[in-house]
Amino acid sequence: MTSEARVRLPLSGQRIVLGVTGSISAYKAADLASKLRQAGAELEVVMTPAAVQFIAPLTFQSLTGRDVVVDMFSAREAEAHVEVARRADALVIAPATADCMANLATGRTPDMVTLTALATTAPVLIAPAMDNQMWAHPATQANVATLRERGAEFVGPNDGRLATGRMGAGRLAEPAEIVGALLRLLGLQRGDLRGRRVVVSAGPTHEPIDPVRFVGNRSSGKMGFAIAEAARDRGAEVTLVAGPVALAAPYGVRCISVKTVAEMLCALDEATRESDALVMAAAPADFRPATPADHKLKKEPGQQRMMLELTKNPDILASLPGGGVRVGFAAETQNLAQYARAKLTEKRLDFIVANDVTAAGSGFGTDTNQVTMFYAGGEVEELPLMTKYEVAHAIWDRVAERFGTNA
Ligand code: CTP
Repeated sequence: MTSEARVRLPLSGQRIVLGVTGSISAYKAADLASKLRQAGAELEVVMTPAAVQFIAPLTFQSLTGRDVVVDMFSAREAEAHVEVARRADALVIAPATADCMANLATGRTPDMVTLTALATTAPVLIAPAMDNQMWAHPATQANVATLRERGAEFVGPNDGRLATGRMGAGRLAEPAEIVGALLRLLGLQRGDLRGRRVVVSAGPTHEPIDPVRFVGNRSSGKMGFAIAEAARDRGAEVTLVAGPVALAAPYGVRCISVKTVAEMLCALDEATRESDALVMAAAPADFRPATPADHKLKKEPGQQRMMLELTKNPDILASLPGGGVRVGFAAETQNLAQYARAKLTEKRLDFIVANDVTAAGSGFGTDTNQVTMFYAGGEVEELPLMTKYEVAHAIWDRVAERFGTNA
C-alpha cells in the first residue's frame, strides 16, 4: 500500500498574532516573523507606538504581506483589536517590555498589543526583553507571577550581554527558541500525544580509540531530532538521548548527550522505565575498540600499518526490555525488506522504519527521507519522499494508532 505525499509544516493552518513592543531587541522580531512564516503560520503583526520607534511597520508588512496595526483608530478594519484577537490561534508578544507586562498584569490597554491580549482567549506566549535590573525588580517579578498564574507562558529572558553592555538576565530569547516554545505551547493545548512520555534516540556514537580518536559513523542526527520535535509539537513529554551531533537542542525537549553505546544504553534504560514509546533513530556503533588507550597513540618510526581490535557492543534495543510502543530503524544498502524484517523480529519491535541510504534524497545528512514501514503483523507500507519532519509525523501517527488500541 502507498500513502499520499503531504506537505506538513509545524505551524500549517495556525493563525499567529505577533505583538511587538518598544525594546531595542525589536529588530529580532523581524527574524522571528520570518521564521514563523517559514514554519507555515498565517501571521499578523500588531505593534505599540514605542516599537515603531525601533523598527518600521513596513518591515513586518513586507514579511507577512498584511497590514500591520499600530493605531486601532486608524486601522482599516473596524474593531481591529477584537477581530485580530478573535481569529488568533496564539498570541506571541516578542519582545515584551516591563511596561507591557505591567499593563497586561493590571488589564490596562494603552496600545494594540495589550488590547489584543485582553480581547483574546487564545494561548499567550511572552518573550520578555529588558535591562537585568528591570527584570529582577520585584514589581516586574510580581507581574510575571500574576501572568503565569493566569496561564501565560514565558520564554526567556536569556542570560548574556545586554544593550547597555552589562551582563545579566534580560536578553530576548532567540527567535528559534520562541518558535519552539510556541510549538510546545500549541502541542500542550491540543496535541494528540498530550500526557504521553516518549523517548527518542538520535545520532551516531563515538567509541574511543584513545583520548583524541574514535570509531564513529556518518549519522547527522537530523531524523531523530525531527522525531523529537514532532512529538513535542503534538504535546508529548519528550526525552531525547543524542550521540555527538552538530544540532541545537530542541526547545522544550529533555536532552541527554552521550558519546558511546554504553552511555546511550545507560541513559535509555533509565528514560524508558516509564515511557509510552521508544523510537530508536540513533546509529549506535556495532563494534568498539577492545582496549582504548588512556594516552594518545604515537606512530613508531617507519610504521606502515596499524591493527585495531574491535569488540562487539551490546544491541541497545535488544537489551531494553520495554519502553512502550517500540519503533526501530533499518538503514540498508541492499536486501532492504529481508534485513528489515529480521530486525523487526529480533529487536521485538511494533514496526521498523527502513530506508535505502543509497537512494537519492534519503539517508545521512539529507533533509528528506523515503522510507518503508514494516509492521509486526506482516504488513508493509511504502511512503513517498518526504521531509524528515513529515516522516517523523508519519511515525507518530502510527504510534498514536497503537496507543489508541492499547489504551
Ligand atoms: N541498534 C541498537 N543497538 C545497536 C545497534 C543498532 O539498538 N548496537 C538499533 C538502531 O538504533 C536501529 C536498529 O537497531 O533502530 C537497527 O540498526 P542497524 O544499525 O540498521 O542494524 P544492526 O542491528 O546494527 O544490524 P547491521 O548493522 O548488521 O545492519
